[in-house]
Amino acid sequence: MTSNLTTMHGVKSLRDVDVTGKRVLIRVDFNVPVDSHNNITDDRRIRSALPTINYCIDHNACSITLVSHFGRPKGKYEEKYSLRHIIKRLERLLHKKVEFIEDFEESKSEIATCSLERVFLLENIRFREGEKQNDPELSKKLASICDIYVNDAFGTSHRKHASTYGVAEFVDTKVAGFLMMREIEAFSKALENPVRPIALVIGGAKISSKITLLESVLQKVDKLIIGGAMSNTFLKSMGYDMQNSLYEEEYVETAAVVLQHARENKVKVYLPVDLVITDSIDSPIDVKVVPAQDILENFSAVDIGPATVKLFSEAIELSNTIIWNGPMGIFEIDKFSKGTFKLASTIADSYAYTIVGGGDTADAVDRAGEAENFSFISTGGGASLELLEGKILPGFDLLDRKEKEE
Ligand code: 3PG
Repeated sequence: MTSNLTTMHGVKSLRDVDVTGKRVLIRVDFNVPVDSHNNITDDRRIRSALPTINYCIDHNACSITLVSHFGRPKGKYEEKYSLRHIIKRLERLLHKKVEFIEDFEESKSEIATCSLERVFLLENIRFREGEKQNDPELSKKLASICDIYVNDAFGTSHRKHASTYGVAEFVDTKVAGFLMMREIEAFSKALENPVRPIALVIGGAKISSKITLLESVLQKVDKLIIGGAMSNTFLKSMGYDMQNSLYEEEYVETAAVVLQHARENKVKVYLPVDLVITDSIDSPIDVKVVPAQDILENFSAVDIGPATVKLFSEAIELSNTIIWNGPMGIFEIDKFSKGTFKLASTIADSYAYTIVGGGDTADAVDRAGEAENFSFISTGGGASLELLEGKILPGFDLLDRKEKEE
């Protein structure tokens, strides 16, 4: 049976087509994190799109038009979500002028002018109502400004939107960019023929957003290491009193079922044995380490404790493939960051093939100073989870396939 990864790997990439003299539309994911002053706090997603953009420049594309979303506006203009905020960084990284286009329909003839290899950046495509509805009218309009459509927005490839999916129906030549291919190759290495044992380290706040993943990975992994607020729901299912800790009451039974299925599939599950707890997350006065079953009254768990770090580290050191998605605690607050950072270092120091997915986890790896020591840092959060679940990402669905080649 062909896997989802093999199917996605079978699409044509930018290297399979000739872009010379062509108008190229590239769907990128420039949905980068920004602070309250709109300063970009992590430009990995922009940097990761450069090989595709530069390839088109180097191969004399007539024009290169970049389309992306930014944040979650509600189908109309909102200044804070304007892609104008990222243009300077893009120009600096690209060493090239980028022309900003507010309304691409009005600028159609300019995009078609082939005098120079010009790079255009369209305003946030989610300012248009049709984007999230995958409206065929918007897809057609986008298709009308290009000869070749390149999808390089891995982070958004799990969305079936006009610019990530629908547009491909109306363009003759549609291929994947280099980032899309790199992501698929990295995940294939970890999931298709992994060097075992394979461990999935999973954290973050919500079990509800990862529950289908947890069920489906039980067929693939040897070890499941669970931390962060997600582990609270599992500990609760084991009868522990979680006091004020964040957990999802409606998923307590589901957590018990996952543990049962893990036993049936002979997957070893590792849960916290001790926790860092606090009387207040925002203004902590009392911070303690306690056994997981002894959380003090009115306290909340905010990080994994040192014994858990040791337990998880031993499980990690004995793994040959490690996939990590989701922090182990509220690492953005210094006092609650140790567990996540120590785990980042343990995974980085291991001899395993290591992949990180999810913006928060990538951020944690950066802050721990370990980014260079991971085999691959994915630009996808939700997209990488859907890959792990075994889904085919819609962003690959309508692209040209290699076997169709005459
Ligand atoms: C992401 O940040 O995960 C992607 O850019 C997708 O964004 P979305 O969840 O708003 O669709």
